[in-house]
Amino acid sequence: MQIFIDSGDIAEIKEAQSMGVIDGVTTNPSLLSKGGKPTSEVIAAIAAIVDGPISAEVVGVEAEEILREGRELAKIHKNVVVKVPLLEEGLKAVRIFTKEGIRTNVTLCFSPSQALLAAKAGATYISPFVGRVDDISGDGIELVQQIVQIYRNYDLKTQVLAASIRHPLHFVQAATIGAHVATLPLKVIKQLLKHPLTDSGLAQFLADAKKIPTGSRS
Ligand code: E4P
Repeated sequence: MQIFIDSGDIAEIKEAQSMGVIDGVTTNPSLLSKGGKPTSEVIAAIAAIVDGPISAEVVGVEAEEILREGRELAKIHKNVVVKVPLLEEGLKAVRIFTKEGIRTNVTLCFSPSQALLAAKAGATYISPFVGRVDDISGDGIELVQQIVQIYRNYDLKTQVLAASIRHPLHFVQAATIGAHVATLPLKVIKQLLKHPLTDSGLAQFLADAKKIPTGSRS
C-alpha cells in the first residue's frame, strides 16, 4: 500500500519525507489556504521534496475552467496529479485529461456509484472521504470496501485512494480491504508508529544495558 501525506505544510512534508515512508502528497484548497502562498509555489516546493505523485486541486467547476487550470497545474512538475471534483463537468474534464496523458485524482467521492463513473471517465485515483462519511453517521470504510470490490469485479485500473483518514484504525482497515493508497495527516502517520509495548520494552532494554559490565577490549 502506498502512503501519501495529506498536507500543504512544507515543514510537515519534509518531516514525513525524512521518515522514509512517504510515496506522495495530497493537497486541497483548505490545506493550502493555511500557508498564505500561491498554489503553484507550494506545489513546486513540494515537488522538490517528494519524488512521487502530488495532487493539486482545481477550483473551477466548469469543464473548460477545470481543463485550463489543470493544464497549468500539470506544467508545474511531471509528478503533479490534477485533483478534480466529482461533478459531471469534472468527469468531462477527466476524460480529456486522460487522453492528454494528464493524471487525475477525482475527489469528494461519497458513493460507490460516483466512484464507478470516475473510473469509467479514466480517473487515475478516486478519493473516497472516509472520515467525512463517518462524521454523518455513515461507514466510510464500507464505502472504500465497496469501491475496491467494484473495481476488482470489472478490472478497472483506477486506484482507490482512501482520504479523510482520521486515525490509525481507518488506515489499518483501508489497508486490510485493499485500498491502493491512503493519504494521512502527519499526526496520523506519527500515531501509526506508536505502541506502548515498544516504549516500555525499550525503556527496559536501556535500563538493563546499564547493568552490563563494560569489558576491556585489549
Ligand atoms: C484528501 O485528498 C482530502 O482532501 C482530505 O483527506 C480531506 O480530509 P478531511 O476530511 O480531514 O478534511
